[in-house]
Amino acid sequence: MAESMRGLVRSHRCTEVSNKNIGESVTLMGWVNRRRNLGSLIFVDLRDRSGLIQLLFDENIIGKAGYEKASTLRNEFVVAVKGVVEKRAGAVNENLATGDIEIQVKELYILSEALTPPFPIEEDIQTKDELRLKYRYLDLRRPDLQKNIIFRSKVAKSIRDFMYSEGFLEIETPMLCKSTPEGARDYLVPSRVHPGSFYALPQSPQLFKQLLMCAGYDRYFQLAKCFRDEDLRADRQPEFTQVDMEFSFADQNVVMDLNERLLQHIFKECLDYDIQLPLQRMTWQEAMDRFGSDKPDTRFGMELQDITEVVRNCGFGVFTGAIENGGSVRGIKAEGMAEMPRKKIDALVEFAKGYGAKGLAYLGINPDGTYKSSFAKFMTEEELAAIVKAMGAQPGDMMFFVSDRDKIVYSVLGALRLNLGEQMGLIDHDKLNFLWVVEFPLFEYSDEQERWVAMHHPFTMPMDDDIVYLDSEPWKARAKAYDIVLNGVELGGGSERIYNPEIQEKMFEALGFTPEEAYERFGFLMDAFKYGVPPHAGLAYGLDRLVMLMTKSESIRDVIAFPKVKDASCLMTGAPGYVDQKQLDELGLELENPSEE
Ligand code: AMO
Ligand code: AMP
Repeated sequence: MAESMRGLVRSHRCTEVSNKNIGESVTLMGWVNRRRNLGSLIFVDLRDRSGLIQLLFDENIIGKAGYEKASTLRNEFVVAVKGVVEKRAGAVNENLATGDIEIQVKELYILSEALTPPFPIEEDIQTKDELRLKYRYLDLRRPDLQKNIIFRSKVAKSIRDFMYSEGFLEIETPMLCKSTPEGARDYLVPSRVHPGSFYALPQSPQLFKQLLMCAGYDRYFQLAKCFRDEDLRADRQPEFTQVDMEFSFADQNVVMDLNERLLQHIFKECLDYDIQLPLQRMTWQEAMDRFGSDKPDTRFGMELQDITEVVRNCGFGVFTGAIENGGSVRGIKAEGMAEMPRKKIDALVEFAKGYGAKGLAYLGINPDGTYKSSFAKFMTEEELAAIVKAMGAQPGDMMFFVSDRDKIVYSVLGALRLNLGEQMGLIDHDKLNFLWVVEFPLFEYSDEQERWVAMHHPFTMPMDDDIVYLDSEPWKARAKAYDIVLNGVELGGGSERIYNPEIQEKMFEALGFTPEEAYERFGFLMDAFKYGVPPHAGLAYGLDRLVMLMTKSESIRDVIAFPKVKDASCLMTGAPGYVDQKQLDELGLELENPSEE
């Protein structure tokens, strides 16, 4: 039977008690982590979010009834104890913060009993993810997950402290919105009062924060929940948290400088790690050319090399054909990997095809100088030697080449580089390489929509020199947009915003919106800009990604208390779920394929 707390007040968390408290009376509350009986003594490890402490029930002190009550304790029972802190009589446990003391218990209260958990509450347990997520509240009791969640709270506080100290106001923006233009699919919420109308959950607070700048709040930030209906990956959840900010009267340098100091502050305070400033900056073009990625992992080399000119007139039709179609031929060199078995090469070819490659050409130089290659037979010795020279390859090295449109070449070699870098152990996992990627293209071609779309969003300012391209050659225009990258993960991104109506009109035109369509979607922003708008710029981080990298977690799932799984469902609550016909009727909704349930 569960007992009440009878007015007991907890005096300490478990590990807040130390040998400085020896002789004091304390009141502790927590979960039974483990019980051991040794004759007339019972030892219990008591656990709370701070850690463990040993309780001692001595029949000669607590009495027969107390001893018998303690004998009924099982794992995960919730108890309150009153007792005295003593130097540990048995051996000191070096692995425990409280390993040199124990609590001689005088009073025991069983506050609640517990079923045997479906998996042990321990670190490194080999339990299936599905089970852990179904019982997330138990999983969250495990020390490693708990460490992450507590650490996340510390990071959030550290961010808030810094932003407040820099004069930012924390302002909340709505969750029930009109669609925001971040480019992913929206989550929609049907309106009861306006049948047939829908709110969209925000993909980001983008428009609201710009309106806050119009309203004169000049420095805004928020830890904002954002929603995007996109395919989940290790670093993507359907709902996630942004550290979102916007600055008035600021250009991109002001935003980047402040954010470098913010990162320095967070890493120092939370990890005692010193970030050296300023952070490296690299243009988008350079990032693509060298690493095949707009979020390059700069912890290792194996950079892409352009051999288009070397093979322009060679005998291998695959290469020359791609070049004739306006593409390029680029390669990477895996040092010392010439002896890679055929099976592994085939696997890499398949991997490349997964990224859109039509094939993957390879050229290895055996230690005796002979070649092993998928295309050597189409080339002369001179042509092969020219490639080897251009790639700076030595006997023992392996090279991979892709010829195609630049977009495909970059994406395949970028992914292959990461794959090989990991396989070859080239990545130093203790390194933290921060990088700003700047001068992004303003537009990118969407194969899916068959039109030019804004790479960041339609309110991103073109670079001054590139405004001339907006009318006729928009694809040439670069943006005042920047991403912050850490170890190959896009931590955050932002831009200077357009505040000039003429440029905004040109931008909408280049995106294929008629003035009416643009006004229909973004009229409230365009109207606001007519009443005095300050130049403004901003940025948003993925808080989940930041904490994932800081805790060296494999997935953002490990730093979110209640995450969703790959199909965007919650295994614990069963969301999303079916609703009553009555609820549908109220919303004026009719299901095309009603479920049996
Ligand atoms: P962006 O779309 O680049 O910019 O998003 C900012 C950052 O949010 C994180 N992020 C995600 N994290 C987890 N799961 C997701 N599904 C997910 N999607 C994005 C990333 C990303 O860098 N309004 C602009 C910012 C601005 O211009 O100020 C924006 O939302 O870390
Ligand atoms: P094939 O003559 O089509 O058998 O191709 C010869 C080699 O070129 C094979 O190793 C293919 O994987 C490779 N290959 C085919 N298309 C490409 C491409 N676009 N880029 C690089 N290699 C390719």
